[in-house]
Amino acid sequence: MSVAKPLPHDAARLHVDGSARYLDDIPTPANCLHLVFGLSQIAKGTLKNTDLSAVKSADGVVAVLTADDLEHDADCSPSAHDEPLLSNGEIHYLGQQIFLVVATSHLAARKAARLAKITYDTEQPILTIAQAEAANSRFEDGPRIYSSGNSDDAISRAENTLRGSVIMGGQEHFYLEGQAALALPDDNGDMIVHSSTQHPSEIQHKVAHALDIPMHSVRVQVRRMGGGFGGKESQGNALAIACAIAAQKTGRPCKMRYDRDDDMMITGKRHDFRIDYRVGFDATGKIDGIEFVQHARCGWAQDLSLPVADRAMLHADNAYHLPNITITSHRWKTNTQSATAFRGFGGPQGIVGIERVMDHIASVLKLDPLTVRQQNFYADMGGEKQFTPYHMEVRDGIINQLSDQLVESADYHNRRAAIERWNDANPILKKGIALTPVKFGISFTLTHLNQAGALVHVYNDGSVHLNHGGTEMGQGLFQKVAQVAAQRFGLPLDQIKITATDTGKVPNTSATAASSGTDLNGMAVADACDTLKERIAGCLADLHGGDIEHVRFENGYVSMGELSIPFAEAAKTAYENRISLSATGFYKTPDVAWDRIAGKGQPFFYFAYGAAISEVVVDTLTGENRILRADILHDAGASLNPAIDIGQIEGAFVQGAGWLTTEELIWDTDGRLRTHAPSTYKIPACSDRPDIFNVALWDGENPANTIYKSKAVGEPPFMLGISVWSALADAVSNCGEAFGDLHAPATNEHIFAAIERAKS
Ligand code: MTE
Ligand code: MOS
Repeated sequence: MSVAKPLPHDAARLHVDGSARYLDDIPTPANCLHLVFGLSQIAKGTLKNTDLSAVKSADGVVAVLTADDLEHDADCSPSAHDEPLLSNGEIHYLGQQIFLVVATSHLAARKAARLAKITYDTEQPILTIAQAEAANSRFEDGPRIYSSGNSDDAISRAENTLRGSVIMGGQEHFYLEGQAALALPDDNGDMIVHSSTQHPSEIQHKVAHALDIPMHSVRVQVRRMGGGFGGKESQGNALAIACAIAAQKTGRPCKMRYDRDDDMMITGKRHDFRIDYRVGFDATGKIDGIEFVQHARCGWAQDLSLPVADRAMLHADNAYHLPNITITSHRWKTNTQSATAFRGFGGPQGIVGIERVMDHIASVLKLDPLTVRQQNFYADMGGEKQFTPYHMEVRDGIINQLSDQLVESADYHNRRAAIERWNDANPILKKGIALTPVKFGISFTLTHLNQAGALVHVYNDGSVHLNHGGTEMGQGLFQKVAQVAAQRFGLPLDQIKITATDTGKVPNTSATAASSGTDLNGMAVADACDTLKERIAGCLADLHGGDIEHVRFENGYVSMGELSIPFAEAAKTAYENRISLSATGFYKTPDVAWDRIAGKGQPFFYFAYGAAISEVVVDTLTGENRILRADILHDAGASLNPAIDIGQIEGAFVQGAGWLTTEELIWDTDGRLRTHAPSTYKIPACSDRPDIFNVALWDGENPANTIYKSKAVGEPPFMLGISVWSALADAVSNCGEAFGDLHAPATNEHIFAAIERAKS
């Protein structure tokens, strides 16, 4: 068996010894030029005077381009055509690209860019959700509303009601490898582009458009990214387009990589949100009716904000059955970086909303928040027929069983009692504990994206060349899909060659996103392998007689009745009999269809589930805190690779906890991002992971027909990090009588302030 094995990541060794090749490790071609953008220093206004003479005459500068120098319309947007590569005179955020320096070295380009003298007519920027609301500055004409049942009626008849608001900040992706691109001019104006991107087909499409050439003239390749996390779905477009334009103009290879400060100033981040809620519930904590108003700060351009905000709406229920619900979603347009995809794609924000409500209700009723959560869980499979707020039946529920198992293995009840005793005895250090669940919908909500292609060659020595449309960003997709191919052919894994994603091999691909990389590409590869197996089997059946139904591919051999020959010999035989040993494969997810305006139908093929219990300790004098222990039980279906899946779960949990605790983005009143480097923006360090960290996989296969019954795992465990934030709120609540209304990120300062509020 190749699937289900806990094999290391195919490039694990190379990642560790430094020999894995990233874009910047591609040997720089002779006479390569290096690019840097000149950025706006104001958040809103128009360009008055752009004096670039000193930039042009600086050492090493070959060309300096502004919007006026571009022959064709160069736009970077993945959605609304609202992101000109270089400002057309209007300034929408501080960090926007105004001009492009092309120089003989990266350093020369950087130094030259600083010599620009630009004056502006400055306008008052719209920076916050409140300012956008006041100015009615939004995408789309009005809010989007999804509903089910009658929330207003249910709330007004409820025994208890509550209102509240939760604010959560955005998040910088902080991929270790920054954005980068390299364009190599080819014959007749064709362009080869290397890009650190989750979406090679989008790079191809945007570059072709900017050069005004057909897509067949642009070939995009990506072997791996040093992390993407959603930040390389669309945010790499500008670099690739800039390189291609400069390469076309100069006839020379052009390379661009943002340094960390530029990367943080220019590119979009996770959407920050405010969620207002009104809820009616009974004495047991069961919710009768609920209303959410979600405010998403989208930044200056549309980018992926509409589907991100949709996904926040689609996760307003998380793992809870909320039959009377109204979700209103405002997508606010602000003069800040254009917020973009980030692991969970809006789901985490939606889920934080309902998890806050659970904690708030528990505090009012003086119940264990776990009890309130359990009161509201969707029924498990085979139980009551229940529907989501978007009218999709939940058929695969396991959250009760899964959380019960975790409560047991983590000894939740005894530990909660021990924490109460600790808190009674300790005036300074207070502890908190929380279980939060996850139910995450798997599929792209833009239904047509749920497709994938593969290209598999068998060479006549029996070795296999594997290619598909997915990209590798550290998540282990390539390894998992190679395991699928090895399994299909009955070959050892070292017979399967993993190759770079290439728009010339598999066309019209979707971004590797929505956690669906393995689901989609694994199935497409299985399809290609099956086609090849059929051809090889057919050839052997023709030669030796026999039924192709009975041909088996196992342990490196192809067998049929008495006959059993090594795979390599079968491949050679097929070749000599003039059988094609190259095949494409294709897959489209079945059963997904919905109306995203009305919020009705089946946007998801299935749900991935999980739960985490986190225990924290807070120093009430400083707000400093630690995660003492985290226990996770996560559902990856029949895992294709438990080692990789557990790695995904650990990493996602820590990244989720980072979002809600130490990672704080601060813009000043001019709209300048003040936290634009690791000196001021704190991602979790190794030492911040829980001291005790128990991660287990749920033992069960995916009831939906996915590749070997596995489940997507990339994003869902990110939301397990919410348990840390909820545990911190619990610790804060334990400092006083009032509910610990902790917002996110719960930095030391914010925790300290929340403790003061809870005490008073
Ligand atoms: N894991 C690593 N190591 N690096 C990444 O950039 N991106 C996440 C997740 N896990 C990411 C990661 C995101 S946002 C998504 S959507 C999925 O991986 C994408 O890959 P998959 O569909 O193959 O799971
Ligand atoms: Mo992931 S946010 O879907 O790239």
